[in-house]
Amino acid sequence: MSNHVNICTEKRKGVIAPELHSQFIEFLGSCIYDGIWVGEDSKIPNYRGIRKDVVDALKLVEPPVIRWPGGCFADTYHWRNGIGDRASRPVTYNENFDTYEIDDNQFGTHEFMDFCNMLGAKPWFGINVLSGSVQEMRDWIEYCNRSEETDLSRLRKENGAEAPFGVEYWGIGNEPWFGGGMMTAQLYAQEFRKYSAAMPLCDFRNAKKGQGLKKIACGPDGNKPKERVQWTKDFFAEIGRYRQPQVDAYDLHFYNWNVLKDDDSDVDFDENAWKRVIKSSLELEDVILEQYALIQEGIRNFPESEGFDEPEEYKCDLIVGEWGNWHGSASRTRPALYQQCTMRDAITTALTLDIFHRNCDIVKMACMAQTVNVLNSLILTSGEHTILTPNYDVFLMYKVHRDAEKIEIDTKSLDEDIYLFASGKDQEIYVNIINADCKNAKTVELSFDKEAEAVNVQTLKSSCMTDYNSVEEPDKIRKTHGKIPVKTDGKYVFCADAASVNVLTFSVKDR
Ligand code: AHR
Repeated sequence: MSNHVNICTEKRKGVIAPELHSQFIEFLGSCIYDGIWVGEDSKIPNYRGIRKDVVDALKLVEPPVIRWPGGCFADTYHWRNGIGDRASRPVTYNENFDTYEIDDNQFGTHEFMDFCNMLGAKPWFGINVLSGSVQEMRDWIEYCNRSEETDLSRLRKENGAEAPFGVEYWGIGNEPWFGGGMMTAQLYAQEFRKYSAAMPLCDFRNAKKGQGLKKIACGPDGNKPKERVQWTKDFFAEIGRYRQPQVDAYDLHFYNWNVLKDDDSDVDFDENAWKRVIKSSLELEDVILEQYALIQEGIRNFPESEGFDEPEEYKCDLIVGEWGNWHGSASRTRPALYQQCTMRDAITTALTLDIFHRNCDIVKMACMAQTVNVLNSLILTSGEHTILTPNYDVFLMYKVHRDAEKIEIDTKSLDEDIYLFASGKDQEIYVNIINADCKNAKTVELSFDKEAEAVNVQTLKSSCMTDYNSVEEPDKIRKTHGKIPVKTDGKYVFCADAASVNVLTFSVKDR
């Protein structure tokens, strides 16, 4: 089959928000304790208690936003436990997703902000709606964001942060349909009304219209086809009933579940399982399109406003706050939800990021679950060792797409194992070519509507589909510079190796 694609370099639609490459960390398993926080006295090199090798690796990824402290954990987290002298912090117990560990609260608000600041990431704080209170949320926002001298802002200063943290993203609850309270969409919408109405603006009060704190509502369980439709309909109907409080963003969660087959673990699977998991990762695109349409419909059904001023257009961004592969073996292992990442995970990570890129006009942020030691990780730690998974390389390779414009291409005639995405920024065009065939290399022909010169190729591949990076072989799968294709008869012919993710850069002259 001929895999030929013609790229019209000016057929651009929508800018890829860097926030689509965001991250999620939680007090779960060894994500934060061991994975990120080791403490200042650890023999593992650290920056003020935070693992140096993890920070150094993530600095290259430049995560735009990091969501914390959960996840489900957020819905039992009391932020006051995590501030002040570390030796005197309360000791609690973490049962989140079978973590079953003593929690000495060493990594709290200041440590998380230190982590974000080192990486240049914006924080997204998750508010405890289940066992917390509206007042507790108000105090946390005040503690973080107030510049005027109040007891809480003084306490922040005493604890070492003179300037407010300026936290903009606030998630109201987490998965209220399950661990976050087993709520109905109507009940959750009522909670959202209360919490969002009580949020102090602090330093954001003088912000230009539409630029205050971002109130993020919980969206549905993306893995439940009927429930997710009903949830979104019910939520927006309830929000619409009176006064329509602003929902700045709606947070959909979708995991690529691989839990039904006992013979398919994170590192031990056959070709059928390779194909099945890759295929099921693609379902997210339909879920996004469906949820976006439901949000718009919900807003359209809001009653006409009876205010004095002309009503502003009501906008609500779609966010995917948790995504990634979830293999069955993760639920049977210690630390909780720890899983290895093979080339199969790297392929689905690339495919998922391309779903976001392709739908950049409707998805505005996405956080991968989770950055370290949990599920679809970028980084795994083992004692003093730090392993960068192949997913890490995908994030690095895909950085070129941030702030680029999506280029619409017709991919209908491509071989079923070949996936393409292209974007353009200034004089450069970036083309992702994923070959999901685990055995055979495939040839792809690219032509352009303009003079384009191939200038760079980055390739991530593995010779065996179950390969992964480990303490023994930390660089078994690592991105490399590939052979730059040569133009013949007006076309570039690129050979995509079996099981590979490739990013090709072209330079166009007359823009
Ligand atoms: O990412 C692991 C868990 O999955 C999160 O805590 C929860 O929000 C989701 O169910």
